[in-house]
Amino acid sequence: MTDETVAFDVENGIAWVRFNRPDKRNCMNPTLNRRMMEVLDELEYRADVGVLVLSGEGSAWSAGMDLKEYFRETEAKGLGAVRKAQSEAYGWWRRLRWYGKPTIAMVNGWCFGGGYGPLFACDLAFAADEAQFALSEINWGILPGGGATKVVVDLLSMRDAMYHALTGELIDGRKAAAWKLVNESLPLAELKARVTEVANILLKKNPIALKATKDAIRRVGEMTYDNAEDYLVRAQEAANSHDNEGRKEGIRQFIDEKSYKPGLGAYDK
Ligand code: ACO
Repeated sequence: MTDETVAFDVENGIAWVRFNRPDKRNCMNPTLNRRMMEVLDELEYRADVGVLVLSGEGSAWSAGMDLKEYFRETEAKGLGAVRKAQSEAYGWWRRLRWYGKPTIAMVNGWCFGGGYGPLFACDLAFAADEAQFALSEINWGILPGGGATKVVVDLLSMRDAMYHALTGELIDGRKAAAWKLVNESLPLAELKARVTEVANILLKKNPIALKATKDAIRRVGEMTYDNAEDYLVRAQEAANSHDNEGRKEGIRQFIDEKSYKPGLGAYDK
């Protein structure tokens, strides 16, 4: 299904969602931000969706916020319009950070500034070697807001984060992988096949366990060890209440049936 600003297809358990303003290098205007929230909403609990992949049409992943429509035109309407536009953008990024299904950013091209919000929101990220990333805010006279500063501080070393934000210099996919901004980088021609491979690994796992695990990874980072221990006990018990049979079946197939080894792969759902 396609509309003006966001396109998506669902195929073999994978929702392929695409920023769809290629003529504008997929920069995020308020229309796209509102539409993306609707698309995420529509896909989150669909039974035929197990993994969501976010990529961009054309040469860009996303050229960040739309300087004309998101900044200049909303600022001209006053503070209320600015806050509304911010909450629409931050809203779908937050929805994506805590999405019910695992998510993968497939960074096919340009990725700037505000694009780091959805990049970080995706659980995993794979980039084309040819992709280009920058915190270009400094180049037009603002600080990296909308969470972009937080993203680089969380993911990069302090020195790399500082250099990246102060210079606004481009880095390619390889460097983004070396800096841990993305998991891996590979030639654009191989990107979709690799992302499909990873998505298929995830599709074999217990979906309740996937959601509990991705939330745990994001949550425990800011907890003490003791708080994390306590949170994880409770999170597992909550997961058990949604999925009583899954992990019992996982144990049964290993111990009784001897049909798989958990150290080597997932049980048969
Ligand atoms: N905001 C508004 N319009 C944009 C943006 C943007 N972020 N990015 C691209 N566009 C528009 C251009 O104005 C142009 O519009 P036009 O066809 O009506 O003239 C069209 O998209 C194509 O852009 P070009 O610059 O012609 O494309 P090119 O491939 O030569 O360059 C590049 C691509 C490098 C991405 C360039 O468009 C660019 O620098 N964009 C801005 C990137 C950026 O700094 N984003 C803001 C980050 S900070 C933040 O998000 C808070």
